[in-house]
Amino acid sequence: MTDQTEPSMEMVFSFFEGLQRKGPGSETSTLKALSLLNDLPPKPQIVELGCGAGVSSIPLARSLDCNLTAVEIHQPFLDELAAIAAQAKLTDRIKTVEADMGEPPFSHGSFDLIWCEAAIYNIGFEHGLRLWKPLLRSGGYIAVSEIVWLTPKPPRNAKEFWDADYPSMTTVDENVTKLRDAGFTPVDHFLLPVEDWQNYYEPLQEHVTAYRSSHADNQAAQALADSLQHEIDLWKECGDSFGYCFFVGRVD
Ligand SMILES: C[S@@+](CC[C@H](N)C(=O)[O-])C[C@H]1O[C@@H](n2cnc3c(N)ncnc32)[C@H](O)[C@@H]1O
Repeated sequence: MTDQTEPSMEMVFSFFEGLQRKGPGSETSTLKALSLLNDLPPKPQIVELGCGAGVSSIPLARSLDCNLTAVEIHQPFLDELAAIAAQAKLTDRIKTVEADMGEPPFSHGSFDLIWCEAAIYNIGFEHGLRLWKPLLRSGGYIAVSEIVWLTPKPPRNAKEFWDADYPSMTTVDENVTKLRDAGFTPVDHFLLPVEDWQNYYEPLQEHVTAYRSSHADNQAAQALADSLQHEIDLWKECGDSFGYCFFVGRVD
């Protein structure tokens, strides 16, 4: 029997429908990461994994003449992306594919660039790098953002929260080593600024508050709101002990 007090995955997904940005980031950081790729071929083939509603796909496709395949497990997010792409007149550059990033339905050597913002945690940084690398052609790039510890001794509440949610979360240096061990040459990396967290958490806070009152009689919905509120509060309290880092690597 379903536990009526625990939010289901479907409830989590539908909570995020309509919230355009579903993780920390900004157009400025997306374009900064793009500027680090100085040797892309003309009209590169790009795959974006865990694209959500396309907050990165749109600026990428606007800045670069490319074929971008936007992959997402939740079709309603792809519908949001498709509507925004149509409005931005970018449908000739962006194709959407409903698929699991853990089983990407593409042949080896299909892409010049793999893009992934705030989503590789779904399958783990190390596993994602190793699984996706064969999708790249020789000389191809990966640009991926990932949550990281910024201090060797994080506060206990932050450590407990992220250990429960994402135990393989580690430091910038260890992720650079993972990138190298997976067969990429590290190109560069940079930490996302605090505004990139605000871009995510400020609309999220409004949405949590509204959701809480519109789902007052639903225990599972209240549990979801509690958990997201806890995450926002934790970031306000000790957000300097963890951050998001953009990593760029290249294959030979
Ligand atoms: C934190 S959100 C980030 C979304 C988007 N990149 C952004 O920055 O707004 C993570 C995304 O990964 C998607 N996702 C989760 N598991 C997935 C999977 N196995 N395969 C593909 N997408 C997945 C979620 O639906 C969600 O859109």
